[in-house]
Amino acid sequence: MDRRQFVGAIGAAAAPALAAEGGAPVRKTPLRPGYWGTQYYNQQEQQQLTEVIESGRPFRWYGPGGQPMKVATFEKEFAARMNAKYALAVTSGTAALEVAMAALQIGPGDEVIIPAWTWHSSATSVIRAGGLPVFAEIDESFNIDPADIEHRITAKTKVIMAVHLQGCPADMDRILSIAKKRGIKVLEDCAQAVGGSYKGKPLGSMGDIAIYSHQLNKTITAGEGGSVVTNDPVLFERASRFHDLGALRGPHGSLLGEPRLDAFVGANYRMSEFTGGVMLAQVRKLDKIVDAVRGNARRVYDGIRDLPGIRFRHLPDAQGELGAAVFVRFDSKQRRDQFVAMMKAENVPTGPPGGSVVLPTLPYIINKVTVHPDWPTWTTARGKSIQYGPATCPKTLDILSRFAGPSIDPKYTQRDTDDIVAAIRKVYPKIA
Ligand SMILES: Cc1ncc(COP(=O)(O)O)c(C=O)c1O
Repeated sequence: MDRRQFVGAIGAAAAPALAAEGGAPVRKTPLRPGYWGTQYYNQQEQQQLTEVIESGRPFRWYGPGGQPMKVATFEKEFAARMNAKYALAVTSGTAALEVAMAALQIGPGDEVIIPAWTWHSSATSVIRAGGLPVFAEIDESFNIDPADIEHRITAKTKVIMAVHLQGCPADMDRILSIAKKRGIKVLEDCAQAVGGSYKGKPLGSMGDIAIYSHQLNKTITAGEGGSVVTNDPVLFERASRFHDLGALRGPHGSLLGEPRLDAFVGANYRMSEFTGGVMLAQVRKLDKIVDAVRGNARRVYDGIRDLPGIRFRHLPDAQGELGAAVFVRFDSKQRRDQFVAMMKAENVPTGPPGGSVVLPTLPYIINKVTVHPDWPTWTTARGKSIQYGPATCPKTLDILSRFAGPSIDPKYTQRDTDDIVAAIRKVYPKIA
């Protein structure tokens, strides 16, 4: 009898007392998920950094004694992994979004449809470009609800931002079909799902352009960093130029052949060779990390799916999600909170959906606060009239209040995932 069968057999015979009611907890000490990418740091990242130091070439375009290659090689391997023609490495996921906005030529008057639940940068990138964020509700995948997109589209809608949140792919078939029908571009924000896929396709390979984050909490990391991918040479040229003060330089020029655009006003979001070296070592480990976390999430799902009445987060593609957490659905916030408290007592920390914010409820969005009072986002008639606030996203707030689950880590052992299963099997039937 393995541990799980043993735990199941005990459950059938005499339910153990809940730790919240004075019984012995499933674990003696709390389970703690780590940061995925850094747990895989070893001599490969170290070697990359040493090579940059010894070469004296920390700048991506030039340096003493030869062509720096870390960032360029990372871009090549990242593009291949994401099934894209072009990849551009930048300083953060937020920078990647701003570059993508520039590539898509978002500016004053343009509207971008964004899920109400996502990270600040999804909206700030639109606002900083002068465009207007229009929020759509999420569904039980915690991603944008395709059924709530169409009635938000106006003549000014230029882009739908499909954000793949907490490791789970958005419903790309429906989003792409709406976008195609209405002649709107799709930006995939894969910051929280680097390495995930949808129906066999890497996340980021289906829209017109995609972004990724390499910040600490993401699948692979150099602490900070970001990437943009696309198959469109014009979008790539505009992205590359925007990230480098309007210039088209080095390997990007050779990749594109003849330039198609003139120089324009840009920024500096260039990745350093140190970051590029670490990201190169990390991208070579991406599949290993993804396989490990997915395997652990599967073990948890398989260990609890027979519990009577249990319902999970909706997964538009269960094979493609990363399994960053296993979310269980409740019919009220009160029951959800009871589950969270009981799981904590069992030393298996469990939380509501995380890593994002309900943007339309934030004061800076509700009050339309920008650095300059004449910033074009909210000075047009449409910008003045659009309303934000909790009343504009009731479904999102309701869904987020009724789910909770334990985070999953790629380095969890069989024992760790067995403990998660045991705690859920012990606690879930007791939720009143
Ligand atoms: C959905 C989403 N988009 C964009 C970003 C921005 O990435 P970064 O933190 O690298 O700027 C994040 C960061 O958490 C994110 O979650």
